[in-house]
Amino acid sequence: MSPAVPKLRLRDVSKHFIAPRTGARTLAVANVTLDIESGEFVCIVGPSGCGKSTVLNLIAGLDSASSGTLEKDGVAITGPGADRGVMFQDYALMPWQSVADNVGFGLRHGTPGKALSAAQREQRIRHFIELVGLEGSEKKYPHQLSGGMRQRVALARLLANGPDVLLLDEPLGALDAQTRLILQVELLRIWGETAPQAERKTAVFITHDIEEAVFLADRVVVMSSHPGRVREVLPVDLPRPRDEAVRGDLRFGHLVEAIWRLIRDEAYRAIGGSTTAAAPAVPA
Ligand SMILES: Nc1ncnc2c1ncn2[C@@H]1O[C@H](COP(=O)(O)OP(=O)(O)OP(=O)(O)O)[C@@H](O)[C@H]1O
Ligand SMILES: [Mg+2]
Repeated sequence: MSPAVPKLRLRDVSKHFIAPRTGARTLAVANVTLDIESGEFVCIVGPSGCGKSTVLNLIAGLDSASSGTLEKDGVAITGPGADRGVMFQDYALMPWQSVADNVGFGLRHGTPGKALSAAQREQRIRHFIELVGLEGSEKKYPHQLSGGMRQRVALARLLANGPDVLLLDEPLGALDAQTRLILQVELLRIWGETAPQAERKTAVFITHDIEEAVFLADRVVVMSSHPGRVREVLPVDLPRPRDEAVRGDLRFGHLVEAIWRLIRDEAYRAIGGSTTAAAPAVPA
């Protein structure tokens, strides 16, 4: 593979939806052009309804673009694949299956486990349960777990299928603030923060939380709405591996401030608030 080929390449991607009854047309995203390198962690932020999930679904192949092209490793994306793992805010675990069975679902029933023996599959399930820190909970059911633990199960299930691209749509959004901070650090470790870039997965992570985006990302893509467009892409020049101390770095504060300035007016409009009233510098 030529190093010049990015892991993901979006060229002039637009997507409109047509309401089935009225025929009304919504241009959800327009002319999105973006390259994401292998091993990069990219966060997408932007006001509600600006098309973040739409872009993610197009990369996942769960939906198709109205115009423009999407490629992975130089090959057109034409549908979903085990090479791109998707994780949403709601854990989407199967309540009637144990932790181990949830994690192993794709391996037992999908293409990722086809080439593996039963023993190899079990070993792989164990490995990812340990990686997300859930050893000892293998036999528990989702209702017996906290929100943070459920999201760890979802992450282990995602990783067990061996994707090289992680597509994460507000995966920590339903968690309490403390659990969220802990899982941000965990996520960076699992993504491969301490490994060389060549061994890291490529991650596209959607969040409403600007601090979360800056903490996690190599680059933050700021989108604007109506229609959804890429407004700006900001590199995050903060050293890795990152820990809590990075939040005190001046550059961290400056980036959070800059991103909030970019989306502030639209974010207020999206919730029906005034766009002219003096807004706080950064959301509390
Ligand atoms: N299946 C659909 N049918 C019709 N319109 C849709 C559909 N999916 C999304 N839209 C519209 O496309 C636009 C972008 O939606 P999308 O869900 O991608 O935004 P988002 O940035 O993820 O929002 P949020 O931050 O609230 O999750 C919105 O106007 C939404 O109403
Ligand atoms: Mg969304």
